Formats: sequence, structure tokens, C-alpha cells
Amino acid sequence: MTVLRSRYMTVERIPLNRSSLQGNELSYVQEAISTGHSASKGPFSNRVVDLLRTELGAADILLTTSCTSALELSAMLLNVQPGFNVIVPSYTFVTTASAFARSGAELRFADIDPVTLCIDPDSVSALIDSSTRAVVPVHYAGRAADINRLAPLVEAHGNAALIEDNAHGLFGSHGGSPLGSFGRFSTLSFHETKNFSCGEGGALVINEKRDVARAHTLYDKGTNRAAFLDGRVDRYTWIDQGSSFGMSDLLAAFLLGQIEQRTDVMGRRQKLFTRYLKQLSPLEASLGIEVPPISGTHRSAYHMFYVLVSGEGRRDAVLRELNESGIGATFHYQPLHRSEGSRPWVKRNFDCPISDSVSSRIIRLPFFNTLTDSECDRVVEALSTALSHTA
Ligand SMILES: Cc1ncc(COP(=O)(O)O)c(C=O)c1O
Repeated sequence: MTVLRSRYMTVERIPLNRSSLQGNELSYVQEAISTGHSASKGPFSNRVVDLLRTELGAADILLTTSCTSALELSAMLLNVQPGFNVIVPSYTFVTTASAFARSGAELRFADIDPVTLCIDPDSVSALIDSSTRAVVPVHYAGRAADINRLAPLVEAHGNAALIEDNAHGLFGSHGGSPLGSFGRFSTLSFHETKNFSCGEGGALVINEKRDVARAHTLYDKGTNRAAFLDGRVDRYTWIDQGSSFGMSDLLAAFLLGQIEQRTDVMGRRQKLFTRYLKQLSPLEASLGIEVPPISGTHRSAYHMFYVLVSGEGRRDAVLRELNESGIGATFHYQPLHRSEGSRPWVKRNFDCPISDSVSSRIIRLPFFNTLTDSECDRVVEALSTALSHTA
């Protein structure tokens, strides 16, 4: 770990994210090795799936190599192809969009709401039509997108499905129901930066029974292996499209150790979020920042803590100063409606001023399960100092 030395003392760098063990990860990995089943759909995968299925009330769940691959699997399941369009927020990670583009869909970029930073239903309403196959909200930073307005919009367009990119939102809720339980499918990420991690990993959450059998086929590389293992056929073969999406049981074992500690992890993250908020909210006017909104009917998954500052030049100067003082603060997504990679998949220009503005003004602060109270306070102090230099 980088150690910075000032004239008077030695201070450790506070990274944006730090991986940590939460419970039985290592003993479970050892057990998984000794069972001899290290491929997908092993005993630890079954335990993770059972736990998540109960928490989310899902019809079924498939553990995947990443959230990206789960999004790709959802595109395959919807038979996304040229002639369809898919609506995603401009302000999101690349693969929320590219997972659908690679199936040949036209991409349409919606703007985000300036308060929640989630997809704006008014913007979706202006883009949706009878060729829309999917609308893909992201529950940004673990806070619910406006499902109450998005779900009826999607329902009113018969061909379209709601797919929640829930990379940030596991164990958050909206109106008492878990994030990830509203769409036909939702996807999870267990990448090292997420609240619960196995290095790289993800899941496809299947919320409708009608999709379960085909989802297993596509997941099993396009074969009827699931029917073979259940004794419904006496050999298995190629029957549909598919790919190799499965998470190794070794990773599932590690992940189980993390997810079993969900009450502690979520409690700690909520405390840290509240600590940042309590210290920074009273300074909003004097420091010229905006802090994330506190939700009423939502329970956040507390994935991230960020502030918005007044302009890009100021944001970049503050980030420089924070990084020089050993604080691993950073920016976030670059708006996808301006991206080079999206060009082959779009048919028009999109105007997403809020995505542009947020992307140029956001500062993400260190936020992870083992961040200590004193580290959190050091971040606030360094942020306040840097902001006062750029007022
Ligand atoms: C909103 C969103 N969707 C999808 C992903 C991709 O997740 P993964 O790295 O598990 O593929 C990310 C990654 O951070 C993300 O932020």
C-alpha cells in the first residue's frame, strides 16, 4: 500500500475500494476444492442461488461470470436482433449498452434524472416505440430508479421488457420490494468493486417462470444438459443458441462467505453513508456541493458515496488535490451517447444534458466495507480543504 509522508507524520493512502474477507470465504473455497466439483452449478452455487432466490423472490437465478455476461444472456433470451431498439441511460457503464448492441439492436440513449441520477422516465417516453425490445434502468449507486413510472411505460409497449441492470443495487428495495424483482430479468455484479464480491462474477435473476427452462439451455452452452441431469432425456445435445456463462463453484464458495454476512455488510455501509452525509450535508452551501438525496420509500443498497461539484474544472482540480493527499477519490461514467463505440448502433443524435453535466461534476469518495470512521473523517477533511482551495 502506498504510504505518503508529510513533514510531521506518515499517513496511509485511502483507496477508492479495498477488497475484504467477511466470513467463511476461505474455508468454503477449501471445501469446494475437496468436493471435486469446481465448474458451474455445483453445491456452493446452489447455496448462493437458494439464498438469493429467497431474498429476491425470483423464479430462478443463474450465477454468471459477470454482470456483463448476465446482460448478454438476457439479450439472447429476448431474441434481441436487428430491427429492435433497446433504451439505456447514457450515464451508465459501457456494457449496459454493448450487451444489447452485440445482438444487433439499435441503441437509444435516455437522459437521467438530476436528483437520483437514474434513467429519466420522460426521456424514455420520448424514445420508446413498437420496436423497443428492452428498457434497461440502472439503480445508480444502489438507489431505485423510478420503477413506478417505468413499469407502466414498458407494459404499454407490448414488445418491450424491463431489464434491471442491478449491478449496484443488491439488497436495496423500492416500496418494500427488492431491487431486481421488478423486471422480466435483472442482473447482478460481484466484481471486486461491488458490495459483495468474488473478484469477477454476476447473476441473471429470472422473475418469470416461462423463462426458466430456456435460460438454463442458453446458460448450458445451448444444450439440454439440464434435462439430461434431471433424467428427462438420456443424453444431451445442441438445441438452441447459447454460450459459456457459468460461474465456477470455487468463486461461488467465496461469494457465499460474503453474502452470508449481508446484514453486517449492509449495516456497516449504511453507517458509513450516514457518516459522510451528516458531515457533508450542512456544508453543501458553503462548499458549493450537492450530496446524494435521502430516499423515502426506497432503501438504498449503499453502493457508493458521491458529491457533485459546480463544474468540470473545479472537479478535476479537487480530484487532483485529493489524489495528491492520498485519497483515492475518482470520477465515474463517461456519457455513452458521445462514445465512439456506440456509433455503429445509433441512428440519431441524442441530447442528454444531465448525463453530460453529472459526468463532468461527480466525485466518488472512498467507500468500502472496511473503511474506518477515522478514514471517513479524513476523507471529509481533505475534501473540504480541496474544495475551499477551488471555491
Ligand atoms: C451499472 C453497471 N452495469 C454493469 C456493470 C458490469 O459489471 P461486471 O464487471 O460484473 O460485468 C457495471 C460495472 O461496474 C456497472 O456499473
